[in-house]
Amino acid sequence: MNTVEIIKRKRDGGKLTKDEIKFLIDGYLNGSVADYQITSFLMAVYFRGMDDEETLNLTELMLQSGDIIDLSHIKGVKVDKHSTGGVGDKTSLILAPQLAALGVYVPMISGRGLGHTGGTLDKLESIPGFRINMDEYEYKRTLENIGCVMIGQTDRLAPADKKFYALRDVTATVDSLPLITSSILSKKLAEGAEALVFDVKMGSGANMQDEDESRKLAERLVSVSKKFGKKAVAVLTDMKEPLGYKIGNWLEVEECLEVMNGKKVDDLLKVNNVLAGAMLFLAGKAKDVREGENIAAQALEDGLVYKKFLDMTSAHDGDAEYVKDYKNLKRPVFSRKIFSDADGFVHKLDAFGFGMASVMLGAGRKKADDKVRSLPGIILNKKCGDPVVKGELICELFADEEKKLDDAVPYVEKAVTTGAEKKSGKKLIIDIIY
Ligand code: URA
Repeated sequence: MNTVEIIKRKRDGGKLTKDEIKFLIDGYLNGSVADYQITSFLMAVYFRGMDDEETLNLTELMLQSGDIIDLSHIKGVKVDKHSTGGVGDKTSLILAPQLAALGVYVPMISGRGLGHTGGTLDKLESIPGFRINMDEYEYKRTLENIGCVMIGQTDRLAPADKKFYALRDVTATVDSLPLITSSILSKKLAEGAEALVFDVKMGSGANMQDEDESRKLAERLVSVSKKFGKKAVAVLTDMKEPLGYKIGNWLEVEECLEVMNGKKVDDLLKVNNVLAGAMLFLAGKAKDVREGENIAAQALEDGLVYKKFLDMTSAHDGDAEYVKDYKNLKRPVFSRKIFSDADGFVHKLDAFGFGMASVMLGAGRKKADDKVRSLPGIILNKKCGDPVVKGELICELFADEEKKLDDAVPYVEKAVTTGAEKKSGKKLIIDIIY
């Protein structure tokens, strides 16, 4: 087989066999295929796409490039959730302990924030001591003892994806349907869950901007998962405005702790509990997503989810006392308030703009190796549709340095739109795909 011939066929819109894709992946991992050749291959896939069979083969080969964790010794259903990424998108922090409290095991391998979207691992690491690296033995033991575990991708899980992703990130080849599908699923299939729920975001704060493409991604994630024998559901959710009121690593943990202790944050609770409902449905603990949503909402009322979160924090060597002290608001030194310049209603809180502002404040990264800060971020005082009067607080920005506030403010000012008329209601759950 010849690397150039394979790239050329994909470049010209042809279909690749499983053996050809294997030849490229193996060659890349053993050094006989170069970075620049894989980059050309990725760009060819970006423009020419892959059909269902090629996507399935690519996923399987990336999955087989590393270990596949076997959790069959743990009796009980294991279900995970994956989000395509958003702003203020913090549901993993609630869902893992919530499902564990309801008797469903959640083995979760999460990612870091990149670009305008936040990442679960960065949020967890805002808890002092919280360790997101575990070997397979500890991962399994924690899952068994606590009911949930949240770690980062190890070098042994889907290493082909790790290497591909690093290239895609710097060669404008991230937003390709077959590449995203195979990347997400090669990791999710390796972690040992029997069922998967996908939260596919739609709107300015999502990674994939085109709504039709997001729907196709949701459909493909479900269909490819099923071909691997997994149960799967995708929920298409709104990401035009940030989810909840708090954006930033510790701020998002804080908001989740508030919710676990009874605070009603409507949009966050709705999206969270529909996802939890889908997980319970796949686990066989609810007859449909609606019933699962009600069970999930009830579980948040009795304090068990919060207790489970504390147990998980301790199991990961995180400082549970720091977590328990969440009411003692931890804020960086510098802050700035943004006020409404008119009477009326909030029409837009553009999620992309808020995500970029959060990066400028130090809560996110501009490059993959940037260090993120724990406390900076944004607290919204208004949500879309809320009435507002001139001079009223829209949001407050927090940073460790004054200069970062100066950099972030223009993004927020551009992201906020008010108007005289009240706009009709927003739709948080766009669709559910089985
Ligand atoms: N998340 C992933 O893990 N991979 C992608 O390609 C995009 C989002």
